[in-house]
Parts: sequence; C-alpha cells; structure tokens
Amino acid sequence: MEFPIYRPRRMRRTKLLRRMIKETYLTPYDFVYPTFVVPGKGVKEEIKSMPGAYRFSVDKLVEEAKELQKLNVNYMILFGIPETKDPEGSGAYGKDGIIQRAVRAIKDATQLVMITDVCMCEYTSHGHCGILKGEEVDNDATLDSLALIALSQAEAGADIIAPSDMMDGRVDAIRSILDENNFSHIPILSYAAKYSSAFYGPFREAAESTPQFGDRKSYQMDPANGREALREVTLDLQEGADIVMVKPAMPYLDIIRMVKDEFDYPVAAYQVSGEYAMIKAGAKMGWVDEAKIMLESLTCIKRAGADIILTYFAKDIAKIL
Ligand code: PBG
Repeated sequence: MEFPIYRPRRMRRTKLLRRMIKETYLTPYDFVYPTFVVPGKGVKEEIKSMPGAYRFSVDKLVEEAKELQKLNVNYMILFGIPETKDPEGSGAYGKDGIIQRAVRAIKDATQLVMITDVCMCEYTSHGHCGILKGEEVDNDATLDSLALIALSQAEAGADIIAPSDMMDGRVDAIRSILDENNFSHIPILSYAAKYSSAFYGPFREAAESTPQFGDRKSYQMDPANGREALREVTLDLQEGADIVMVKPAMPYLDIIRMVKDEFDYPVAAYQVSGEYAMIKAGAKMGWVDEAKIMLESLTCIKRAGADIILTYFAKDIAKIL
C-alpha cells in the first residue's frame, strides 16, 4: 500500500464519500447528563465556572428531567448537596436525603434511567470521600457507609449505582448489600480508573466538595500511571462491576483505549467539569468554536473506546444529532 497506488484523499473528496467511510457515530443514547440537586424550592442557579450547568432544587430538577426526555437524553447522573454535613457524611444515606427525594420525584414524573453517584465528599464536613481516622481516610470503615448509601439509593428507585469514591473493595461491598436486599438486578457503574485530577475544580465548587485539608491523592490515581488503571479495572470487574469508567476523559484517551482493548465490558468515560469549563471559556473569549469543539471532543472520546460518555454537553449535543 503505497503512494501513488493508494491515495487516501480519494475517499475524502466529497461529503458523501467521507460519510461512507466514517467510523464513529454519536447517538443521543451515548450520553449521560450529570447534574446537581440542592435543598430548597424553585432553585435553578447557574454554576459560575460551568455556564449552562445548574444546581436545581427537586421541583426544578423534575422540570429539567422532563425536558431531557423530550430531547431524547435518557440517562441522568445525580450529585446531591445536603442541607447539613457531618464527619460521617450521614446525609448521604437518609431515606429522605436529597438524592433519595430527587430520584423518587424524577422516577415518578419521567422514564429517565437514573444513575446515582455513591461518594461521601459532598456530605462530609471535611470534604473527603470517606470516614477519617486522624487525617487519613479509613478504607474499610468507609465501605460500610458506601454500602448503606448504595442501598438507600436503590430503595429510592435508582436504576444504576455509580461509586466514585475509589476505596478498595467498594464494588464488592455494594454488590453484596444490593444482592442481600433484592436488588441483584441493579447494575454497578464503577468509576474504576478515577484520577486525582485538577480537572475536577469546577465540580467541587458546584458540589461544595473541596477537601478542607490535603488532597485526594491517597485514594484517587496518579495521572502518571496507565498500567495501574488495568489493575483497578480488573479488581472492579472481579467484584461485580457491570460498566467500568475512566475519568477524566480527554487527557486520558489512552487509558480509555487500553481498558477497551483489554476487557470485554462496556466502558464509560467522564468528560469532567474542567474539560467543559475550558471549552466554554475558550468559546466565550471567541478563541474556539464551541459547537465544533464539543462535537469533536465527544466524537474522539467515543473513537477512543467509550461506549457511554458522561458530559455536561449532553443536552446540547442531543439537540444537534
Ligand atoms: C465525587 C466526584 C467528583 C466528580 C464526580 N464525582 C469530584 C472529586 O472526586 O473530587 C468530578 C466530576 C467533574 O469534575 O465533573 N468524588
């Protein structure tokens, strides 16, 4: 296969020829819309560093969910900001916790598939993703709380449980408690390879989940490590994960590809808040074309191997597909 016998440009000459050899297509079913729920009534406040993304009270969130359904965005992942926080993050598993109420309300009003994030950082006064022992997050003590959170979400009607805490053994703990309580049909989407990333900055503002001291490096992964992601994914699959996620997405396309090639399981990728914020900021300055960058970044995340993409652009992309 050599020039001039092979000329790749032949198949790029017209739009229809290009379309004929197009390898990657996006559909609305590829996307999960992440959003935030806060206490109160009638609240819809834009997140400063994430234009076009909002924090909703439950009543407003139900309206948003109905709109998503109209746009054929069928999947939502929800993060809750509770009224009060404590060191144990107990607000995360109350029957009438913010997430539990939101899930019930949305399931009553729509057919959306509701994914709930299992983590404690939005609920703990110290902002870490687990129970502290001194200044360290105690892995095994945290597992019991995570299991309780997952169970309370399933009881509220969550369709998929998505642990994002990065404790060792959490998928097993969650799978066990779900199975023991007649929720063996509820899938687990695990944030299997979640990196300790500066790209989460805007999310932490939105979710009020910035750690009060230190950082998350003792539980989230080092961005320098690729092979370690395979070990993380292996563990989560052994423990019963149904979908494995890589996060963030765009700076980690190599990890998405490695996970896709190595395992025969659905792969999700999370285009996180910082990725979204950078595109929005660049567009606001007039330096990049927002719609084109959105389409290209999502296409490339799918091309890299993601079957499912969590993105704050879910509504915008669905409108143009
Ligand atoms: C909770 C959680 C985080 C994100 C999703 N779940 C933040 C973090 O780990 O600090 C980030 C999502 C985003 O940046 O869009 N642990």
